[in-house]
Amino acid sequence: MRGGKRSAKVAVRKNPENWDLNESFLDFSWDDEPRLRDGFRSASEVHPSPLEWDLAYREGTPPWETGRPAAELVRLVQQGKIPKGTAIDIGCGTGANAVYLAQEGFEVTAVDISPTAIERARTRAAFAGVNIHFVVDDVFQFIRSCPAPFDFLLDAGFYHYVRAHALSAYLDFLWRASRPGSYCLVLAGHAAETAEGAPPGVTEEELRFELGRLFEFVEMRPFRFESLFHREGYLGWSCLLYRPILPTFRR
Ligand SMILES: C[S@@+](CC[C@H](N)C(=O)[O-])C[C@H]1O[C@@H](n2cnc3c(N)ncnc32)[C@H](O)[C@@H]1O
Repeated sequence: MRGGKRSAKVAVRKNPENWDLNESFLDFSWDDEPRLRDGFRSASEVHPSPLEWDLAYREGTPPWETGRPAAELVRLVQQGKIPKGTAIDIGCGTGANAVYLAQEGFEVTAVDISPTAIERARTRAAFAGVNIHFVVDDVFQFIRSCPAPFDFLLDAGFYHYVRAHALSAYLDFLWRASRPGSYCLVLAGHAAETAEGAPPGVTEEELRFELGRLFEFVEMRPFRFESLFHREGYLGWSCLLYRPILPTFRR
């Protein structure tokens, strides 16, 4: 799942020094053919494509699939660091995190582009006896009709793929899906991880520069993505983010 067939065609702005700080990712308008300044139009143009994501589930168990909620999510919820409320699981996969959040009293919307993943997630939720609003869609399309922002946004393994080809669209999504006072947990691959099969890696500077445009960092620490394919797990970043009510008045 590494690499990107689009990357040769679009400007990939991985280095903060290439960015114009006065440039906003929000100053575009959706029209019949929305195209952001990073060249992104829709998920069908990128790699992995929607079909490839779905195949990863149809062919068996993908490397990120453990059947358990992420330990980092459990830790932060148990420590009371994520206030309960509405939540969106962005690229929810087969729903272990979404089910955990619902069991903890969150009102959960879970979106994934893979019909196979969502089908498994629905089964998981039914077994657990929880109600979750599941959506099979491209999150960038979904957000255009989303009625209200969420109190909590969970991204377990989506940002590190999407940032290479659609960072502007991703930031716009986060902006629309959150409100001042929302929390967001991003679990992303770590640039120092070299193990075969590891998720795409991100540096601390990249995370701070890209996500710091919208959020304050409440916590940022290395952790390990669990994987059935790699006993010690893959090194990653756990970032708990907060969208300030006013930039200088954090509660
Ligand atoms: C690395 S997996 C992580 C899945 C899940 N969060 C987990 O922790 O098991 C990334 C997920 O994002 C989904 N995805 C990729 N692009 C998407 C898009 N544009 N809209 C919605 N879901 C997407 C994939 O189908 C896949 O399930």
